[in-house]
Formats: sequence, C-alpha cells, structure tokens
Amino acid sequence: MSDDAYKRSYEREKAARMQAEELLEIKSRELYAANQELKQAHESLVAQQSAMVKNEKLASIGTISAGIAHEVNNPLAFVSSNIEMLESYWETMIKLYHLHMQFISQKALNDEALALAKETIKGEDIPYLINDSTTLFTDTKDGLKRVKDIVQNLRDFSRTQAEDWDEVDLNANLESTLKVLSSAIIKNQCEVTLKLGDLPLIWCNAGELNQVFLNLINNGIQAMSDTKEKRLTISTQADEQHVFIRIGDTGMGISTDIMDKIFDPFFTTKGVGKGTGLGLHISQKVVDDHQGKLTVESEMQQGTIFTIQLPLKRRE
Ligand SMILES: Nc1ncnc2c1ncn2[C@@H]1O[C@H](COP(=O)(O)OP(=O)(O)OP(=O)(O)O)[C@@H](O)[C@H]1O
Ligand SMILES: [Mg+2]
Repeated sequence: MSDDAYKRSYEREKAARMQAEELLEIKSRELYAANQELKQAHESLVAQQSAMVKNEKLASIGTISAGIAHEVNNPLAFVSSNIEMLESYWETMIKLYHLHMQFISQKALNDEALALAKETIKGEDIPYLINDSTTLFTDTKDGLKRVKDIVQNLRDFSRTQAEDWDEVDLNANLESTLKVLSSAIIKNQCEVTLKLGDLPLIWCNAGELNQVFLNLINNGIQAMSDTKEKRLTISTQADEQHVFIRIGDTGMGISTDIMDKIFDPFFTTKGVGKGTGLGLHISQKVVDDHQGKLTVESEMQQGTIFTIQLPLKRRE
C-alpha cells in the first residue's frame, strides 16, 4: 500500500473510530439516564408498595377489632342489664324466704300450712344457696366488667384512621395494649415489669403507635418461648426533647448476621403461617411518620431491647 493510501485508510479508520466512540458515549449516557430513571421508579414503587402493605395491614386489623368490639357490645349490654335485674329479683326472693322461715319459727301458720312450709324447703340448704348466689353474682359481674374492658381496649386500639392524630397519653396506651395481649402473656407465663415515667401528652396517631407497641411486645413474647427467664420490661421516660419507650425481653436475642435484615419487609425467622415478617417493617414506618427513631440492641441468649424515640414537638 502507498503511503497516501495508507494515510487515507488510517484517517478513515480514525474518523470511524471517533464516530463510534462518540456514539458509544451518547449511548452510555442515555443508558445511564435510563438506568437512573428505572432505579428511581423502582425505589418509588418499593416505597409505594410498603406504604400500601402498611395501610392495608393496619386498616384490616383496625376494621377487625372495631367489628368485634361492635358485635360484642350489644349482647354485652343486655347480659349486663339482665344480671342487674336478676340480682334485684333475687333479693326479693330472699326476703320471701326469710319471711317463710319467720312464719315457721314463730309457728305463725296453722298445722297444715306449717307442715307444707317445712316440706317445701326440706333437704335444701337454702342459706348455702343464698350465700353462693351472692358469690355467683359478684363473679359474673366481675367477668362482665373484664369483657367490657376488653371491648373498650379493642375500640381504643382500632382507631387507626389517618385523621386520628391527637394529644395522647402514651403510658395509658401501653397499658391498654398490654391488656389486649394479656392472654398471650399469661399463656406464655411471662412476667411483666412496667416502669412508666412521667410523660407529657404527645401529638401522635394512637392507633398506629398501639400497633407498634403490639408488634414489639408480641415479638418479645415470641422470643422468650424457649428461654428459662421470661421477663418483659416496658419503660417510658422523657427528656427536654424526646420521649423514649423501651420494650425489652429476656429472649433468645438477634444474631448479628440477621440484624440488618430484621426491618426488611417479609423478613422472618418464624415458621410458615407464624410470622409475615411485616411487624418491624411497619413499626419502623410508623415511627418514621412520627419523625422518631426505632432502634434495637440485642445480645444472644440474653435478650433484646427495642427503643422508640419520639420528638416532643413535631417539625412542620
Ligand atoms: N424481640 C426479638 N427477639 C428476637 N428476635 C426478634 C425480636 N424481634 C424481632 N426479631 C427477629 O426479627 C424478625 C422480624 O420481625 P418482624 O416482627 O418484622 O416479623 P415476624 O415477627 O417474624 O412476623 P410478624 O409479621 O408476624 O410480626 C423475626 O422473625 C425475628 O427473627
Ligand atoms: Mg413480629
């Protein structure tokens, strides 16, 4: 090849290469932009999805509890009122019995009537029945009061609407959440230590925070299913800027290799049908919505403490 021809072909090749490089750069830039866009779209989808999951889970728990509370409330009302009525009827009957006994002891009846009066109560230990029915009435009314409290707790608990932001006494809310969980606590033989400090009223969504307390306490109870010591410690405390709610257990602890996954949606170490892996994810979202922080400290075989930190005053 002559020098000229070589030069021409070199130039041609160089121009083609530059064009190709330029094209490649344009394409890379386009690809990068498209990738960024895709990443943003993906992030917003993930955020939307978890918000939807959170709302749906909260809404369905809220609806179920509100529904149960409503359904139980009507029969509860008439059973309570019937018991009151029965008790007053019963008192009248007792008066009649005493009169009956008075007639017998004062022989205020003719022989035939006296024999009949004695015959009617023969073999019956009426004083015992009277005494025992007093206990039955007291126990029944006590049981009804407990059912009423549960219904009230379910109602407090189910207030999960977005507009349910209010000034709230978080100590009272923790106590009502504990009552909702009392059967699980008793069943698992957990000991509960409450150390509730003085807290100012906090502007928050009570229904959503109850859900967080419920998730954390439930996790604590479940973590202690196989441990010897089963103690739940729930404490609250306030400083100038924050309130702190700590929920601690003496459970199995969380190993360091899963520590950074526990807040991920659907991450669970519980068996099929036992855990959805949403409890902590939702809790963190709720605490975030309150401009707070949810943190965890844990030691294997010793236990775990979750801390909810909420600001006393929200940033606008
Ligand atoms: N107090 C705790 N002690 C030990 N491990 C815990 C504790 N709390 C959470 N974990 C771990 O974090 C995982 C995720 O918890 P999360 O509450 O999100 O889901 P879950 O309890 O498995 O299911 P659910 O949706 O029913 O709450 C649990 O499966 C468990 O491994
Ligand atoms: Mg859980």
